[in-house]
Amino acid sequence: MRVVTIIPTYNELESLPITVARLRASVPDSDVLVVDDNSPDGTGDLADRLASEDPQIHVLHRAGKAGLGAAYLAGFRWGLGRGYDVLVEMDADGSHRPEQLPLLLAEIPRGADLVIGSRWVKGGSVVNWPLHRKLISMAGSTYSRLMLGIRVRDITAGYRAFKRETLEALDLDAVESVGYGFQVDMTFRVAKLRKRIVEVPITFVERELGVSKMSGNIVVEAMVNVTRWGLKARWEKLTARW
Ligand code: GDD
Ligand code: MN
Repeated sequence: MRVVTIIPTYNELESLPITVARLRASVPDSDVLVVDDNSPDGTGDLADRLASEDPQIHVLHRAGKAGLGAAYLAGFRWGLGRGYDVLVEMDADGSHRPEQLPLLLAEIPRGADLVIGSRWVKGGSVVNWPLHRKLISMAGSTYSRLMLGIRVRDITAGYRAFKRETLEALDLDAVESVGYGFQVDMTFRVAKLRKRIVEVPITFVERELGVSKMSGNIVVEAMVNVTRWGLKARWEKLTARW
């Protein structure tokens, strides 16, 4: 099983080296792809330095900040083009503990098409998040679950392992979400293909270094899209019966 872990970065100078070192120690077989959006703080240069010291680390430089979703799509194309069997998504800030990646990867040989590291299943948790972020995440997940009719507890989760066949079955060019709604978008697309989605409990640890790129706009984009997709799916179901 050839695995590549994709880490999108925007101003993660302090966090990235720590996360990459932990990842290399915890899953030495996984290659690493850093997708940097020309971070003003020089994260891209740092990533180049890490790559020059370790042949399993690669860097994709993009022209400017274009959102988490766009960065992942570029990373997926990179990884699919190089024949990886499993493509992992991981934040640079240490919130997705690299030590828990084996738990996600173990589900692939057991038949999962998409594994989600989940905060909101039994055994999952969030450390150091203020109450309002917990509420936004849980409410967002619940609303999306009801609206889209998918049985995933942590729909916006960003710690994931995709089997290559799962990504190949999707039309990646059609994915338009740029913010964190990208995660919901991908979950909905995988669910519609009736692929097997498995959630494993993780401990999400809020970053200690750097700042979150989450914003009100990102939440609104996700809410508007979920509502649109949900209504469209209902409408299609209704008209299919006529
Ligand atoms: N290349 C690139 N371009 N990377 C980005 C961009 C961008 O425009 N925006 C954010 N990132 C990177 C960050 O550098 C980090 O590595 C990762 O994406 C997640 O960003 P954070 O800003 O740390 O996200 P968060 O902690 O607020 O949000 C977490 O929760 C969300 C909601 O559940 C993450 O786990 C998200 O993945 C998740 O959707
Ligand atoms: Mn974070």
